[in-house]
Formats: sequence, structure tokens, C-alpha cells
Amino acid sequence: MELIAIDGLAGTGKSTLAKSLAARLGLNYLDTGATFRMMAWAALSSKANLENEAEVMTTTDAALITFEEGRCFVDGTEVTEAIRTDAISFAASKIAVFPRLRERLLWWQRRWVADHGDCVVEGRDMTSVVFPDAAVKIFLVADPQVRAMRHPEATADRIAERDKRDSERAVAPVQKVPGAVEIDTTSLTVEEVEGLVVDLWEKHKSSRRGIGETSNGFRI
Ligand code: DC
Repeated sequence: MELIAIDGLAGTGKSTLAKSLAARLGLNYLDTGATFRMMAWAALSSKANLENEAEVMTTTDAALITFEEGRCFVDGTEVTEAIRTDAISFAASKIAVFPRLRERLLWWQRRWVADHGDCVVEGRDMTSVVFPDAAVKIFLVADPQVRAMRHPEATADRIAERDKRDSERAVAPVQKVPGAVEIDTTSLTVEEVEGLVVDLWEKHKSSRRGIGETSNGFRI
């Protein structure tokens, strides 16, 4: 199993990059933010108190989530669009502090990757906790003003509050791990960022092929 793992805060360009990389390299794509968003949707639908871990877990333990080709379902109901609101972003970040929920989603995410093969995965703790052995690890950053412009549905204050929670929580906070390559996407185009990551992926592939072996498996 070979993975490109991408982490970063909201608006750094993770999803756009991960989707275009997956299409270009013929890999599967997993948006792990969507898994937290689906759980937030389930918790809000059942009117769980988002401050109460036990209450949130009662609902989310019972929720069956699926993510296929970018489409999201909770217990068979499609929520692909419904989980993209500011209210859900905020709720997802709130419940993402709960260790039991993170543990449950960690296993769901590892299982998804085991079932789908080589992938591009993106989120907050891909390189640090869920897939520390990923072949290529990327940490995206960008100027806060540019990040806010990329999320017109949210105010800069809401994004700042979410950043704080995602970066300072006790379990699996957003962080750049040793071995991750940091890319500042503030003034780069998607194609430019994609080019940098494709180079890293190609380098990894050629080092895996071993000395003297071509991409066709012929020795030179
Ligand atoms: O990437 P996103 O904006 O869709 O993520 C929504 C929230 O989910 C984010 O604010 C924090 C949480 N999250 C997380 O804690 N760990 C991940 N791997 C992905 C998302």
C-alpha cells in the first residue's frame, strides 16, 4: 500500500490538491475531514450536546458512514452537500477533540485505505497519527487572509477559532512531523503545488524500483 498523506489547516488547499493528484496519478482519494463532518451531521441530527463526549459517542457509534468517489452517506442518506456548511465545519472541529471518536475514525480510515489500495489521503493527523508510514508526507500552509478567501461560507473569526481548536487539542493536533515537506500555497497555483508533489512521488517510486531497474521492470 502506497500513500500520499497531506495535512494542513482549513483553506490551505488540501482537498483541491488531493483530488487533482488522485486524478492525475490514478490513485484513490480519501477526505478524512468528511468523516468528521459526517459524524457531526449525525450528532446534530440527533440533537446531541456537542460538549458531551458520551452523548456524542452514543449517536456516532450507531452511525454508519460511507465515502465513495467523493460522495458521503450517513445511514444511507446522502449528505455530500449538507456537510459543507459552516455549522457542520464548526461542529466537526468541536467533536474532533474527543479521543474515542478519533480512535473510531482512525480505524475506519485505515480500513478504508486497506480496502481501496494506493491513495491520496488528507486531513489534520494523516502524517502524524493515522498513516505515519506514508510514502510521501506533505504539510500545507498558507497566509490566513488567503485561507479565509478560500472559505467564503465562514468568517475569518470562525476560521481562527477552528484553527485554534484543531492545533491545540490534546489528541492528534495539526502539526508538521519530521519527514513531511512543507509547501506554502499562498501564491502558488494548484498545478504548481501538484507538480512539486508529483516530483516527490516519482522520486519515491524510482527509489522503490531499486538500483538499475526501469519502470518496466527491466534492468539496465
Ligand atoms: O478538513 P475539514 O475542514 O473538512 O475538517 C473538518 C474538521 O474535522 C476540522 O476542523 C477538524 C476535523 N478533522 C480532524 O480533526 N482530523 C482530520 N484528519 C480531519 C478533520
